[in-house]
Amino acid sequence: MTPLEILIRERIESGGPLSIAEYMSLCLSHPEHGYYMAQTPFGREGDFITAPEISQMFGELLGLWVVATWQALGSPAKITLLELGPGRGTLMVDALRAAGGHNEFIKAVDVHLVEMSPALISVQQTALEPAAAFPKWHATLEDAVNASEGPLIVIANEFLDALPIHQFVRDDTKWFERGIAVSGEKLDYVLSETPADEDVQSYCEQLSTEQGAVVEISPAVVQTAGDIASALCARGGAALFIDYGYEVSAAGETLQAVQSHDYGSVFESPGETDLPAHVNYGAVAGAGLRAGADVLGPLAQGDFLGRVGIHQRAERLADTNPEHRDSVAAAHARLTLPNQMGTLFKVMSFAPKGFVPPAFTPQSDA
Ligand SMILES: C[S@@+](CC[C@H](N)C(=O)[O-])C[C@H]1O[C@@H](n2cnc3c(N)ncnc32)[C@H](O)[C@@H]1O
Repeated sequence: MTPLEILIRERIESGGPLSIAEYMSLCLSHPEHGYYMAQTPFGREGDFITAPEISQMFGELLGLWVVATWQALGSPAKITLLELGPGRGTLMVDALRAAGGHNEFIKAVDVHLVEMSPALISVQQTALEPAAAFPKWHATLEDAVNASEGPLIVIANEFLDALPIHQFVRDDTKWFERGIAVSGEKLDYVLSETPADEDVQSYCEQLSTEQGAVVEISPAVVQTAGDIASALCARGGAALFIDYGYEVSAAGETLQAVQSHDYGSVFESPGETDLPAHVNYGAVAGAGLRAGADVLGPLAQGDFLGRVGIHQRAERLADTNPEHRDSVAAAHARLTLPNQMGTLFKVMSFAPKGFVPPAFTPQSDA
């Protein structure tokens, strides 16, 4: 049993079942035993590999997108580049290297990172030490927004999927919140004794009327998306969310445990496995629109990367490093092909009304 499971059992014994959101928060962000607090779980050796860890092309192309966005904003003298959940810092290292040739941009940019994990902050500091612009770190989005000024360009790759979700399950007529309790020797799901409130009932009922259906709701994702949209409307700029997710709100259970590149039970080794949930882009879009922003996309990741030049970048990289031609081709395929990350991962942008960030202009298929 992991140290965190012992603590979770004690909490359940003293306070009753935990919501899925409470369980997820403890598993990912408990100060001592949370998955992101103690470990550096990314990359080929880690539990999962994210796009920037697959290839330098990903961060480089995002860096060039950021520069193009800054130019489309009129090349302001001050710009805030804010990344949420930078992991090992790889995306920002590659982005700033690619942007490094644009001197005026580098003079204008102030880089801010939002990261809750002291262990990862230390990895990010080492990675970014030689970067063209050294960042400032913040524990929350609110701190980062308050500590920065000027138009804002926000990047969040696989950040929203780490924010807690609640799950609701339908019996034959009503929806009940799913919780986690101790059952015999193991942790197991239970349902709340009383039905969820009326707002939850009506939201879930629009998505399914089947007995046993599960609906996931993430107030944390909605709050984050809304706060970013409000900041963009006040300051100008654009945001980019890149995540595994679904485009339209729907019933379905997506919370999963990921360890050593494989999926397992969410009750297995709490604190030692990643626990992401798919992002409901319908809910993200709703939060952006309610805050007054324009919502663009989502585009499939493969389409977005195609629009920002990944095919040409892959050719150039292979030509300059012929010994790496095969690995560049494999990374290019992994990031863009529909049966790999090309379709399941989606890219959504927010911008103040009327500003269309690069890559999001409507394209004709002709
Ligand atoms: C799945 S990792 C993605 C890392 C990176 N963006 C990448 O693509 O490799 C999630 C990142 O978000 C951070 N994180 C998760 N929840 C957070 C929160 N509530 N506040 C701040 N950082 C958080 C984690 O510590 C980690 O750096």
